Amino acid sequence: ISLKTYNTFGIAKNARFFVSVNSSEELKEALSWAKSQNINPLILGGGSNILLTQDQEALVIKIEIEGIEVVNEDEDFYWIEVGAGVNWHRFVLKSIENNWAGIENLSLIPGTVGASPMQNIGAYGVEIKDVFSSLKALNRDTLELEEFNAEQCNFGYRESVFKHELKGKYVICSVVFRLRKEPEFHTEYGAIKETLEASGISKLSLKAISDAVIQIRQSKLPDPKEIGNSGSFFKNPTIPTEKFEELKNQHPTIPGYPNEEGVKVPAAWLIEQCGWKGKRFGEIGVHAKQPLVLVNYGDGDGNEIKNLATKIQQSVLEKFGISIHPEVNFL
Ligand code: EPU
Repeated sequence: ISLKTYNTFGIAKNARFFVSVNSSEELKEALSWAKSQNINPLILGGGSNILLTQDQEALVIKIEIEGIEVVNEDEDFYWIEVGAGVNWHRFVLKSIENNWAGIENLSLIPGTVGASPMQNIGAYGVEIKDVFSSLKALNRDTLELEEFNAEQCNFGYRESVFKHELKGKYVICSVVFRLRKEPEFHTEYGAIKETLEASGISKLSLKAISDAVIQIRQSKLPDPKEIGNSGSFFKNPTIPTEKFEELKNQHPTIPGYPNEEGVKVPAAWLIEQCGWKGKRFGEIGVHAKQPLVLVNYGDGDGNEIKNLATKIQQSVLEKFGISIHPEVNFL
């Protein structure tokens, strides 16, 4: 079966076997079958963070576990358990409707709830670790469901234990989020402030913030339904403070945001300075409004995108001495 409609990059590679699962029970069956046939299982959520570079000799298991349920509440919070297959933005919209606060800044991020803790999705000053309570994941060896708290997930910038020590060992089936009854608005991010001001909103609300975020994202990120892409292709690198000061002498306009480990530099800026912004090569290219995003105009090939990514990395390394690393997983 073709996976073209199952990855937001729109890459036309095939899977030898394919199944959708609606529950952890069905997931267990699929994993057992794969094991008995000696076939690798490949778990797929929204397909929004992968680059297919070859046909998959695997059983592709598409997670379609549904459900959004309030499982607990106290004076200040609701705890909401959400099935791994729920579309992330649908959950955000539902939370705004119900006045559950905390994920409005994460509006319009592509992908599913089950994939969200994998790389600790984040945007506009909020990451899911800020609202995460726990998750249930199926151990692929024992086929038992296990629970993980935030500490066990070991979240970092676009990182979690599931991308490292536990890579390939668990399948996330549901996530419990702790959302506020009284909102705490996060409007520090420049673009949000500007958009809210421009829209003349007098009173902040979850909806107003969500709308602002949607407007910002739509203005610079391509809609995967129109142009294939995987959001940010690279992570923003953090470099030592001394290195940043050195670069600042040579390139006075370089932006930088200090953090605990040094200074975070926007990869978009580095890539733009190397002349890649808006460049098109046949069916693939670098997005004109956000050079951190690589795009497939239609019939692009995963390997072409991979090669382009390598060239971009090399040129950034040559010009600035900084290594940038993909956020997207190559398959
Ligand atoms: N910039 C340029 N040229 C451009 C665009 C941006 O130089 O054409 C520089 C500017 O200095 C700008 C800075 O990059 O101030 C930051 O740009 P932006 O606000 O678009 O954010 P980003 O750092 O490029 C990150 C996330 C996005 C997230 C936004 C907003 C990563 C890898 N990406 O991008 O996440 O939406 O911040 O918080 O951290 C994703 O992960 O797929 C994703 C889209």
